[in-house]
Order: sequence, then structure tokens, then C-alpha cells
Amino acid sequence: MAHYLVTGGAGFIGSHLAEELVRRGEQVRVVDSLITGKRHNLSHLQGVEFIEGDLAEIAVARRVCEGMDFVLHQAAIPSVPRSVEDPVTSNRANIDASVNILVAARDAGVRRLVYAGSSAAYGDTPTLPKVETMPTAPLSPYALQKLVAEQYCQMFTRLYGLETVTTRYFNVFGPRQDPSSPYSGVISLFISALSEGRAPKIYGDGGQTRDFTYVANVVDGVLRACHSPGVSGEVINVATGGRVSLNELFATLRALMGAGVTPEYQPARAGDVRDSQADISKARRLLGYEPTVTFGDGLARTVTWVKAAAAGMS
Ligand code: UD1
Repeated sequence: MAHYLVTGGAGFIGSHLAEELVRRGEQVRVVDSLITGKRHNLSHLQGVEFIEGDLAEIAVARRVCEGMDFVLHQAAIPSVPRSVEDPVTSNRANIDASVNILVAARDAGVRRLVYAGSSAAYGDTPTLPKVETMPTAPLSPYALQKLVAEQYCQMFTRLYGLETVTTRYFNVFGPRQDPSSPYSGVISLFISALSEGRAPKIYGDGGQTRDFTYVANVVDGVLRACHSPGVSGEVINVATGGRVSLNELFATLRALMGAGVTPEYQPARAGDVRDSQADISKARRLLGYEPTVTFGDGLARTVTWVKAAAAGMS
């Protein structure tokens, strides 16, 4: 049994990591500022130690790293448009907090830190799929912050010997993704609109594409990144390797949910990337990773969960 710290563990992805670690019989500590996370996301789990705190304060970062073997650093303000509107708050959460957790992990003798990077770092370069060796081209404060923090991770590995791995996520979706903010992920927003008979908004012409990745695949990729030998200092895409347009996403969801609404098209968002698709051969090679839940199955599971939650069963 090892001790794991999940930062942002009351959030969407973090709570799925905590759940899997509990299922495996590990000791789990969660730190979350509850800016976007929710206590409720952990209420079904036994034995998770919860600490409310802001990692942009170094004392909090030091306290939560004490006694930990592994740190899964998921805490962030994970929105492109929110960072465009308020780069300062976003910078504090995405960079200052990351530097603090790296310093604290180093000083606490943590064995490895796995960082939640973002495919946003690739920007709008025309080549698809995105390979980790490609030059980065961040288009938004969020994308830049995620890239800076992953470079900090690599630097801490080189300078101080702290083992770090960055998993670059591609549009993660699934149960517990919160649809309540205009900054929420598009799948959660579409499902909540369709279930209430409202017209979802599509920014731009809907031809933009994403490598939508069901959260169970990400959990598997992160835990492999935590335990695979010889990968310290690496940056590794974790995704499905496919690509679906917003128009296709909407059509699939409408068919799945039997809703009759049509989308409302709005101007494209500032800082938005046109196309995103991962090359996952590095994850296959270094981590033995293989996506196990397809986009279609993931959507069906997510819709089932939303319906159950609405009926008060979840
Ligand atoms: C998402 C993640 C980001 C992650 C990145 C990795 C969220 C909130 N953001 O950014 O943390 O690092 O993937 O690739 O999960 N859209 C609409 N209608 C809406 C909302 C969005 O058309 O109501 C469009 C957006 O303009 C964009 C696409 O859907 O083209 C996806 O947007 P969003 O879900 O916010 O994710 P990303 O910006 O791709």
C-alpha cells in the first residue's frame, strides 16, 4: 500500500483517480481549493483524507506532500476562455500552485509526480495527429500555463532528480464533469442542454474537431505513468487517437438522447484550436497504454450516468 496525493481530487478527473486508487486499496489524500471541485464528488468513497486548501500557498503545498509516495497533480483552473478573461487567477492556479507542489514534493522525498498537461500546448499547428516531439504553440493563457508547468516538471527532474511525468490530456469527458459553468467542457454542456430540451451553443461552424477521451482511459494512463519504469522526465499524450467534429458530437448525442432540438451557432471563441488529435504511439510504447473505452461507449456511459444522477440514483 502506497500513499497518494491527488491534487484537485474533488474535481472531475481527480475524483476518478481517487476512486480507482481506493478500489486498488491504496491510501489516498486529496487537496482541493473547491474553486471548481466539489466535496460531493468524493462522498461515495471510504477512507479518503480530504484537505481543503489553495496550493498557491506554499505552506499548504508542503503540508499536503508530507508522507506521500506519489503525487498526481490534477489541480488547475482548466478552461481556455476563463484564462482569456482572467489570466491572473488562472496563472496563479496553473503555474504558481504547480511550482509550489514541485518544491514541496522534492523536499518531502516524493517518489514520482505525475502532472496533468494539456494538448492545448500544441496550439493550431496544421499537422495531425499531434506527436510529443512537435513544437508547441500555445494560443491562450491556459495553454501557455499548462506548457510552462510541464517544463517546470522536466526542469525539476533535471535539476533536483525529482521523478516527474507529464500526461497530456485531450478533451476528457465522463461522469461527474460539471456542466454548471459556461466554461465547462463541451460534452457536459451539450448533455445538460439536451436533457433539459435547450439548444446547445456551437461556437464557430462546428467543423472543429477534438480527440474526446473517456475518463477511464485517462485514469489508466495516469496510473501507468506513475508506475512505469524509465519514463521520468517524459511528456506523453493520453487520448484515444481519434477525432470527432462538434457537429458529429451533437448529432451522436441527439440520437442517443432522443432529443429534438437544433444547435444555436455563435461566433468562434478567441483562443480556440481548430483541430486536435493525438498520436498515442508513445503511450503505447512506454506505458503499455491502450484506450479501452471508445468515444461512443464513453458517451453512452456518460448519458446513462447523467440520467441516473437526475433521477437521484447516483
Ligand atoms: C479542453 C479542456 C482543457 C483541456 C483541453 C485539452 C475543458 C473545459 N477544457 O479544452 O482543460 O486542457 O481540452 O485538449 O474541458 N464549444 C462549443 N459549445 C460550447 C462549449 C464549447 O461549441 O458550449 C466548443 C469550443 O469552442 C471548442 C470545443 O467545443 O471548439 C471544445 O471546447 P471545450 O470543451 O471548452 O474544450 P477545449 O477548449 O478544447
